[in-house]
Amino acid sequence: MSTFEQFKEIVIRRRTVKPAQMNGQVIPEQDIKDIIATADWAPTHGRTEPWRFFVLTGENLEKFCEHHAELYWANTDEAIRTESKRDTIAKMGDKSSHLVITVMRRTPETKIIVEEEYAAVAAATENMLLGATAKGIASFWSTGGMTHHPAMKMYLGLTENDLVMGLIYLGYTEEQKEGTRKIPLEDKIIWV
Ligand SMILES: Cc1cc2nc3c(=O)[nH]c(=O)nc-3n(C[C@H](O)[C@H](O)[C@H](O)COP(=O)(O)O)c2cc1C
Repeated sequence: MSTFEQFKEIVIRRRTVKPAQMNGQVIPEQDIKDIIATADWAPTHGRTEPWRFFVLTGENLEKFCEHHAELYWANTDEAIRTESKRDTIAKMGDKSSHLVITVMRRTPETKIIVEEEYAAVAAATENMLLGATAKGIASFWSTGGMTHHPAMKMYLGLTENDLVMGLIYLGYTEEQKEGTRKIPLEDKIIWV
């Protein structure tokens, strides 16, 4: 297989696997470090390297999920909050091994616009997901619950200008998922 074919294989093999489909097996810490090291090689305009990673596992992951559920309950209007959603959030860590919270730490006094720093962190996040796939690790990029809420920033000790890019749940799964795309590729390319 050519290098491109190998790369394409990994890209296509990466599919969203929700934590409920993970099996609780724990990922060796070195694999987590390797995966995050691939994130660190994302392109970065102005070399600001704005990505930061909070890594949680075990008891700390459990605690985070409980706190996340509490944040949801405390910051969501009574008319729309539901106990089932609170429970879902609280259980997100039960069968996943690690959670990597991917954050954009806004560079102070930079000429780089915020969208570009956000884009760099999105690229870093995708690197991480592909690195995980290459190691046989399933992933779920979630922006659910309180991910984008100011309460989450406060919980993580971030400043107002920082942004949470996603909650990346990692683990092992027996599930084999086929990818699907709704819009044909030809409709997304404008050959000029
Ligand atoms: C920025 C971003 C945020 C996402 N947030 C969620 C989410 O909150 N909940 C969810 O179920 N999936 C979320 N996803 C995953 C998408 O649902 C998933 O990528 C899509 O269904 C396509 O499936 P695939 O990743 O297997 O190709 C998110 C993906 C991205 C890129």
